[in-house]
Amino acid sequence: MPVITSIDDLKRIYKRRAPKMFYDYAESGSWTEQTFRENTSDFDQIRLRQRVAVDMQDRSTATQMIGEDVAMPVALAPVGLTGMQSADGEIKAARAAEKFGVPFTLSTMSICSLEDIAEHTTKPFWFQLYVMRDADFVADMIARAKDVGCSALVLTLDLQILGQRHKDLKNGLSAPPKLTPKTIANLATKWRWGLEMLQTKRRTFGNIVGHAKSVENMSSLSSWTEEQFDPRLDWDKVARLKEQWGGKLILKGILDAEDAKMAAKIGADAIIVSNHGGRQLDGALSSIRMLPSIIDAVGPDVEVHLDSGIRSGQDVLKAMAMGAKGTYIGRAYIYGLGAMGEHGVSEALRVIHTELDTTMALCGHKNINQVDRDILLVPKDFEGRWA
Ligand code: GLV
Repeated sequence: MPVITSIDDLKRIYKRRAPKMFYDYAESGSWTEQTFRENTSDFDQIRLRQRVAVDMQDRSTATQMIGEDVAMPVALAPVGLTGMQSADGEIKAARAAEKFGVPFTLSTMSICSLEDIAEHTTKPFWFQLYVMRDADFVADMIARAKDVGCSALVLTLDLQILGQRHKDLKNGLSAPPKLTPKTIANLATKWRWGLEMLQTKRRTFGNIVGHAKSVENMSSLSSWTEEQFDPRLDWDKVARLKEQWGGKLILKGILDAEDAKMAAKIGADAIIVSNHGGRQLDGALSSIRMLPSIIDAVGPDVEVHLDSGIRSGQDVLKAMAMGAKGTYIGRAYIYGLGAMGEHGVSEALRVIHTELDTTMALCGHKNINQVDRDILLVPKDFEGRWA
């Protein structure tokens, strides 16, 4: 077993072991990838204040997200096609999250289904919903999420149409991969991935195929999204879905103070400041840059979470110090999953926890709930004046 000391270690192994098509899917932003890049480089601009001679014994990163106890404020984000990165990937990730004590969010576009995850875990997980044109199918997915005991619905608002990711089109991204001379040549070098894939039956979109009417084959993701996702989603529909669900609601994809106010008005329990990992509106500002104005806009009524750009415990600490109440990792755990399956996800969580815990202590704190902006050195023009 290689010694893993950073998320980058996992990424290197992941790149070797996963089929190119799925590595590229995870590792892409839309168009020029400016927002994708700035999500991480903006975290680097924020620096930390070193404090010394403070008691750092008995530290704790434990807190709550939407009233649920978490071992650290880091949930696993919903990621489409996770079960293509490693066979039964969503089950592996959900189990690692449960063992660590952090929330797992299942994507609508997952390979393993809601029922699969419920069967292989013991605690409630969260379900991310994409709103489709077929209202019966949406109602059915909400009912299924309730039936399996999901404790929150994460409604994504920033992907009713898909931002173009060049590589997915060039690679002919599909689940399972279509066998062309190019994919066969690549898959032939990924024997570990292939052996595991041959042993599972879960190789297409488990929440959809066999549930949505007349959907037998939806292997072309981009054309399927185009046909099925509801481009007419608006705040009235969001309010209706909230009623329909009736439980904790997290609105994902808020990047603007005006939208954050709408989310608060609707009574969301939490919002996720997110630009979908730089995969949608290329040219949008990074989540960490937008976070302060959004926190100011909603006040204490709504819990503000953040995703897009978190690759380390230092990033988690910075987001929390800026006022977030929780963060999400997507790529960081996918690297672990593609590298080493369930163990790799546990390793990703362990790495991030160690970084968070040690960095918090070196900033003079021993309880994540007490960390505030005082530990940060933020460039004067960080939020910028954007006219
Ligand atoms: C889906 O959520 C994607 O970003 O590909």
